[in-house]
Amino acid sequence: MPRNHHIGLHLGTEDDWPTAFESVLDRLKLNITFAGESHTFTTERITIEPFDLRYVPKYHLVIDRLAWWHLISREWLKKIALMDDVYLFNSPFTFQAMEKHAAYCAMIRLGLKVPATWMLPVKQPGDNERYAETAARYHQPFQLEQVAAEIGYPLYMKPFDGGQWVGVTRVPDDATLHRAYDESGQRLMHLQKAVEPFDVFVRSLSIGAESMVMNYDPSQPLHARYQLSHNFLEAGVGDEVVTIGRTINAFFRWEMNSCESLVQGPEVSPIDYANASPDVAVTSLHYYFPWAISALLKWSIFCSTTNRRMRLDQDTRVWFDVGDDPDLTYEQRLEAYRTMADDYFDVDAYREFCGTHLAHLDEVMVEYVESAEFDQMLLRVVTSTFPPHEHDHFVAHYRGLLAAWASDQQRS
Ligand SMILES: Nc1ncnc2c1ncn2[C@@H]1O[C@H](COP(=O)(O)OP(=O)(O)O)[C@@H](O)[C@H]1O
Ligand SMILES: [Mg+2]
Repeated sequence: MPRNHHIGLHLGTEDDWPTAFESVLDRLKLNITFAGESHTFTTERITIEPFDLRYVPKYHLVIDRLAWWHLISREWLKKIALMDDVYLFNSPFTFQAMEKHAAYCAMIRLGLKVPATWMLPVKQPGDNERYAETAARYHQPFQLEQVAAEIGYPLYMKPFDGGQWVGVTRVPDDATLHRAYDESGQRLMHLQKAVEPFDVFVRSLSIGAESMVMNYDPSQPLHARYQLSHNFLEAGVGDEVVTIGRTINAFFRWEMNSCESLVQGPEVSPIDYANASPDVAVTSLHYYFPWAISALLKWSIFCSTTNRRMRLDQDTRVWFDVGDDPDLTYEQRLEAYRTMADDYFDVDAYREFCGTHLAHLDEVMVEYVESAEFDQMLLRVVTSTFPPHEHDHFVAHYRGLLAAWASDQQRS
């Protein structure tokens, strides 16, 4: 009897990557012989319903896109992780506890070049009736401009736990600073030194043992931010970006995450790297979309087949030992982190596994991207994303980029 691994997709509104994931898994017709057993795979979109805390779920692995905002999803994930050993991309335990602020703190301690960052008390008191008295007793009056002066203009004001650019303001002067602070209301904000001017804005998307480093232009509309460009970083810098992303993910036990870094000459400053549900939409990733689907498939199949156990706890001390060692240079620290991160993600075993058992995946992915089935999915996504007068333009645009990807694969 083969062992079947049931992969659950826990979804919000998206339909593009799940459709691609399901179709390619189906086309792969996997029956992997590993450690004397044969392994097959099925997938299903998860529905939400009341659950007995003692029930046994049918999933072995769940790819989650919902728990970052949906409470029942988050708590369900905790139950299946704590009680049933279900493997999660991503675990709500560290994502909930370690949002942007905690990620900044940890990476500063590890010696990464996080720009100067301060936290401010909230501008507007919350609804808690104890607030006024507590604030009167213990909140120190402060001069906002003085904090800004410590950091130096220009700077950014942004929510300590933010995402999707909500509440982010570039602050060049005192007047903007006060306006942004007034508007922040009850949100807890950071002030962060602007890294300007930067040479390249890099976004690296990591899924398990794989990372893709992409050139990102934040000034463009969403569909045009990822630039189709290869070799835009000097090799050493590109590798540093991969190491930073993978270090953060191994440190926090995050399985899929995007990491934003600003590159100025040889300096890499990470600024945003706690994205529980990173953007993998075909309309944003375009050319890189098939890579993301392949990586999701490979990492799910690897984790299921090899019975990789998810780690709910962190092992911060071994990382801090490297971060705190005064005899190490930045380069030596990074080298140590890379070894630890690659070890955590089992990079060598993963590569060997993919080479032995998933060698046909790349070819199957090209066939899928060139199929009528993929084109129909693309049409559905474009018509539901863009206004009618832009449909023709965007269909042609995405078809062109995906065709370029497919022909690049055949050449390589
Ligand atoms: N320190 C900084 N230096 C330069 N630009 C920044 C900085 N912080 C934020 N930005 C700009 O603001 C955008 C949103 O900030 P970010 O920290 O990525 O928040 P979010 O989590 O909302 O994406 C970034 O993509 C970048 O363009
Ligand atoms: Mg960002």
